[in-house]
Amino acid sequence: MTSDQTPLVIAVDGPAAAGKGTLSRRLAAHYRLNHLDTGLTYRATAKALIDRGLPLDDEAVAARTAGGLDLSHLDRSVLSAHEIGEAASRVAVMPQVRTALVEAQRGFSQTMPGAVLDGRDIGTVVCPDALIKFYVTATPEVRAKRRFDEITGNGGSADLASIQADIEKRDARDSERADSPLRPAADAHLLDTTEMGIEAAFEAARRLVDAALEH
Ligand code: DC
Repeated sequence: MTSDQTPLVIAVDGPAAAGKGTLSRRLAAHYRLNHLDTGLTYRATAKALIDRGLPLDDEAVAARTAGGLDLSHLDRSVLSAHEIGEAASRVAVMPQVRTALVEAQRGFSQTMPGAVLDGRDIGTVVCPDALIKFYVTATPEVRAKRRFDEITGNGGSADLASIQADIEKRDARDSERADSPLRPAADAHLLDTTEMGIEAAFEAARRLVDAALEH
């Protein structure tokens, strides 16, 4: 339920490179909502530790760093580097880091008129009461190919097999960690983008959000 007093929250989860970022940005633009890519909060924590020469596995230090982040200054172009994603996945296994970031993410979700949040644990932990939840997936092969096309399309060079190996390693770490592992919420709508283009995924999601808004 939403009303003029209740923020509208849309939760989007899924593994790396499944298309959840693009889908979330499209939904946020369509419904005029705020958008937070929560992966950037883990990436910014990892980058701050690296920049300050601090260890990635000292939980108290990492949690203090996470608690001091300014969510309004998350620069995707700086944080999107592959090594930062890898470091973020390591930082994200620590419960105290998650507690600090989840608190900030929940605060963001409650800002009117509401928000689309994308990540790994939005529907299960951060916003369990979201109006609607999506779980976006695609096969590792297709996700690796998308990353490869993105990198080479920007003039970079990349090796498809090693991208896929990295994606599978990251999936395993994100799914097997004890605290808030990557998994679909029981009430999430599954969107498999292996065959579907992003436009079709957006249309499917939009129809489901419109139906939820009518109830
Ligand atoms: O989506 P991404 O690649 O930017 O995320 C980077 C890492 O952050 C990812 O490997 C796991 C972690 N993460 C998380 O644990 N929970 C979230 N809600 C978002 C990201």
